[in-house]
Parts: sequence; C-alpha cells; structure tokens
Amino acid sequence: MTYVLAIDQGTTSSRAIVFDQALKPVASAQEEFAQHFPQSGWVEHDPADIWATVCRTCQAAVEKAGIAGSEIAGVGITNQRETTVLWDRDTGEPVHNAIVWQDRRTADLCHALREAGHEEMISRATGLLLDPYFSGTKIKWILDNLEGARAKAEAGQLLFGTIDCYLIWKLTGGAVHATDATNAARTLVYDIRKGEWSAEICALLDIPMTMLPDVRDCAGDFGAVQADLLGAEVPILGVAGDQQAATIGQACFQPGMMKSTYGTGCFALLNTGDVPVASKNRLLTTIAYQLDGKPTYALEGSIFIAGAVVQWLRDGLQIIESAGETQALAEIADPHQNVVIVPAFTGLGAPYWNAHCRGAVFGLTRSSGPAEVSRAALESVGYQTRDLLEAMRADWGGESESVLRVDGGMTASDWAMQFLADINGVPVDRPPVLETTALGAAWLAGMQAGVYPEREEFAASWAKERTFTPAMDQDTRDARYAQWQKAVTAAQGF
Ligand code: G3P
Repeated sequence: MTYVLAIDQGTTSSRAIVFDQALKPVASAQEEFAQHFPQSGWVEHDPADIWATVCRTCQAAVEKAGIAGSEIAGVGITNQRETTVLWDRDTGEPVHNAIVWQDRRTADLCHALREAGHEEMISRATGLLLDPYFSGTKIKWILDNLEGARAKAEAGQLLFGTIDCYLIWKLTGGAVHATDATNAARTLVYDIRKGEWSAEICALLDIPMTMLPDVRDCAGDFGAVQADLLGAEVPILGVAGDQQAATIGQACFQPGMMKSTYGTGCFALLNTGDVPVASKNRLLTTIAYQLDGKPTYALEGSIFIAGAVVQWLRDGLQIIESAGETQALAEIADPHQNVVIVPAFTGLGAPYWNAHCRGAVFGLTRSSGPAEVSRAALESVGYQTRDLLEAMRADWGGESESVLRVDGGMTASDWAMQFLADINGVPVDRPPVLETTALGAAWLAGMQAGVYPEREEFAASWAKERTFTPAMDQDTRDARYAQWQKAVTAAQGF
C-alpha cells in the first residue's frame, strides 16, 4: 500500500491527513495554536507555533495510520494564504511574528497608495486590489518598522514566504526557497499574466526582489522532507493555497464551475479557464491552479467572516455552547421577526472592500433572543455569498454551471445550506468528504507521484452526498436580499 500525506496549515489550526491509494482519508491529527492581537485590527501568529504544530500533527497522523514514512509516496501542502513570514537566510529564524491575512495594520498605507493612483497598475498585473489582506504591504510594514530589517533585506539576508513557502523551507532543512503559483498570486507582487514577480510593484513597495521565492507549478518538485520528521525522506510534490486546493478537491476543472468554502471566512472561486477575467465588480482575479506550466484562472470572492460569526455567538455573545446548536435555534426562530446581522467584525471583503466598516445588528425587538440572532448569523453567510455570486455573474460572460459546490465545517448545517440555496436561487451540492482542501493537496502530490489518477478520471469520480434545491419564491428571495443590501449600506454609513 502507498499513502499520501496532506498538510493543511490553516488560520486557527494545523492539520495532517493521511490518504490511502484510493484517496480515502485514513488518519488525521489537528492542533489549534495561539492567535495574537497586539493592537486593534492586528493579527499575528508565532511561526514557531506553526512549525511545531505541523511537525506534531504529521507525526501523530502517520502514527495513527500505523504506517512507516517510507510508505508515503509524497507530501502535499495547503495553507492559509497571504500570511507573511520573513526569516534570516542563514539561521532560519523568523525576524517577526507572521502577519496574518486578516491583519488590517496597512489600511492607511493601502489608502495612500490608492489615493496616489497606483491601484489600476497593481490590479492589472496581480488581479488584486489595494487592501491590507494581501502580503505585499505586510512585507513593506516589517521592512519599514523593524529596526535593521531593511538593511538586512537589501544585503540579501532576509527571505520572504507565505506559509507554504516557510514550511517548505523548514521541512527541507533550508534547502528549498519556493512557492507555487497560487500562493504567489496572493502576494500583490506577482504578475499573474506574465507569470513572474513584478519589478514595478516591488520598486513601488520598496521590496528587494532577492527576498522572493522561486515560483513553481502546483504539482512538481519542492524538495524532500528531511528524514528526521517521518523516519524517511519524503518528496514534497504538491502545493496550493487552501482555497485553490479546495477548488481542485471539488474537481472544478471546467470553466464556469464554482465552489464556495466555509471556514473562518468564505471564499468562492469560479473557474474561468485560461483567461484571467478582470472584474468590474471588485472581485479578485487569481490563479486557480497551475499544472504543466499552464495557469488556469479564477474569479474569487472573499468574505472575511463566515464560520467566525458562529464562533462569535459562542465565544463573544455566549448564547450557544457549540456551533451545532445554531441549527436548532434557527429552526425555532420567530418567522415574523426580521433581525439582520452584518458581520463586518474585521471590515468588509468583496465586493465592498471597506477595511474600516464594523459589524451591526438591525431589526431587534424586545422579543428578539438567541434563536433570532442565531438565525440571522446563519443567514448572513447566505446573503454574503449572494453578494459574491451576483458579482461573478456580472463579470463572467461565459456559460456557468448553475450549481454551487460547497465544503468546509459550516456546510455540516443543513439549515444553513438550505438557506444558501434559497437566497441564491441555485442548487447547492455538498460532497461526502468535507475535507476538500486537504483532498486537493493530496491529489496534487499523489498525481505527481503517479499514485492517483489524472485530472479527468479524478473529476469523473467526484460524487455529492446531497443537493439542496432552492425552495423560496423569487419575490421573497429578492425582498430579503434587498433588506440585506440596505443593512450593509447602513453599517458602512455608521
Ligand atoms: O485567504 C485566506 C484563506 O486562505 C484562509 O483560509 O480556511 O485558514 O480561514 P482559512
């Protein structure tokens, strides 16, 4: 038997999953790690925590599977994207905590660059917008604010990487400084049309290009995991950012296919084939995957708060003890009440891109309670998805499948998935394995190792567990969505 090990390094936890030759998960391990909030709107991770949890979960998963390292044909890595690490080339020591994708500290810098008229050039090259979300301004912030960092970077002593790249460096014992095209596409300094780092943007942000990693295909040679971790050297053969890995795991290989993943946030990707479609509705253009040197592009809608709104009910408001309770509460909520939550806790992502907006609740009465608030929380995820799908429809002239493939923890809620289908007016397909992100990374590595089938065969074997069919009438759907739009406008005016 041959196995593949997928590492899924996410925003709040690190996971490792062992897949067998039939692409079935056979063992997994997961560890949460600390989130650091040094100031309002700032979010950091300690790279040492990331590394330690990745090592421990890999070893635990392999041990649970009862296999030897020599039986693993390849390692696939998928990761939280945009999160930025800078480390010393000689010692391997990070010079600062990782600045996490959610971090808003460069909002003013982004604003100033926008005011100075740079957004158009940056968008044309990278497919992204001037928002603190992406790595570029985070790199600049460290170089500008950490004493001695710029001089070291200019002397070629500092390396930059997103989390995949940092892990590849650590796993290979410093032998490989590389990333894949999907992660590069999230940095704000990578030209997704030319397939190279942009000298113009690096000059604008004052980023020495010697810091940047080599950019490779998603399936390829990323060096070997040193033998001390798994008991044998194992090649790293697959790498993709987590939302792109989920697109692959959902087998969205045809132009027009789309998926939406519900984790901390929600990220919807629509495959646009070999054409990088420029959005007129403030979506992102990104690389869905790059295989055999050929990029396939996607339109992406990114929402910062999806599952996190349920965490807020649990940890902030403390009106539930576990996420699963929201479903029962939503079912008993008073249908005549009209509570709307705009969960802009860390600003609004696509299509609004308002870094300064904060959350709001509308329509409260004296009889509004945990049930109505829970229902509104689940509904906010459906409404935000509709914002994205409306923008995608407007941007994408091609044929699109009118089915949304979903995955991620929150899709376990039948109530939330039915509302998603209702408010969007599209069928929602849920696969049996919700670990689609890890599956995508495993497939990349296993396919490269020759253990797993090629793209067409893998796509043909994709199966759904259930379809949620829209049941709401069009008038209700539109009236409720109009109310959401009013609420978002009001929240932004606050
Ligand atoms: O762009 C951020 C995204 O990659 C984070 O995903 O699942 O770690 O919240 P997740």
